[in-house]
Amino acid sequence: SNVVLPPFLHRDNRGFIEEICKNVVSDMDAYGVCVVDDFLGAETGLAVLDEVKRLYSRGDFRDGQLVTNLITSDLKTIEGDKITWVDGKECECKNIGLLISQVDSIIVHANKMSDNGKMGDYVISGRTKAMVACYPGSGSHYVKHVDNPNRDGRCITAIYYLNLNWDVKEHGGLLRIFPEGWSDQVANIEPLFDRILFFWSDRRNPHEVQPAHQTRYAITLWYFDAAEREEACRRHNIDGKTKGKGAVLKKKSVK
Ligand code: OGA
Ligand code: OGA
Ligand code: MN
Repeated sequence: SNVVLPPFLHRDNRGFIEEICKNVVSDMDAYGVCVVDDFLGAETGLAVLDEVKRLYSRGDFRDGQLVTNLITSDLKTIEGDKITWVDGKECECKNIGLLISQVDSIIVHANKMSDNGKMGDYVISGRTKAMVACYPGSGSHYVKHVDNPNRDGRCITAIYYLNLNWDVKEHGGLLRIFPEGWSDQVANIEPLFDRILFFWSDRRNPHEVQPAHQTRYAITLWYFDAAEREEACRRHNIDGKTKGKGAVLKKKSVK
């Protein structure tokens, strides 16, 4: 394989990435959803959590709910999350940067491993910045929605959770996915520390975040399909090279 992996941490990363990618490729193919636990290891996971808490206490977060997405009109309701965007190169976000590189490695490598070299027939051409989200408790939630209902270019959603000792019975905050074609079956994903979740971003995976009663942190990356993204940028006269909040995915509060 000619995939260049970043040097990484305390794991035998190459073997680890191979292993995860196998799961990602087969689970995405079979279910459109894949969960991986112990993704970074406790030490790095805690360092990421520490950076997120610092960003939050510094007041960097804005309302993420009631988002207008230029393309999708993706609307969040009241009492949603607080968000900030990070590219991982900020000096106070080194560990978030490591997380981002690790997820990039998985996506790139999984793509090369899948049968036709194109996971889900997508050609990954980039991604958004990392959206760091905090549900501040007191019942904050996110109603059932689709991340990319209108072909804005996003094909894979990757969410990394940071919540230690999370008990959904007590703290709520469950992510429930209603995958198309599972009839009345749902996927209940607890937002557990050092867990990462992948799913197709389009209408195949409507999902909701149930009311959280304790501070709940997560970091989301969205990966772009080359052709769909190019087409979306052409439709909207947007420079596709501008990533994340600069471009199609601009989120603004609409109180
Ligand atoms: C589109 C489009 C409208 C919107 O995706 O081409 O026009 O913002 N979307 O929902
Ligand atoms: C989102 C979202 C899910 C979660 O921000 O679009 O659905 O579990 N988040 O945080
Ligand atoms: Mn979502």
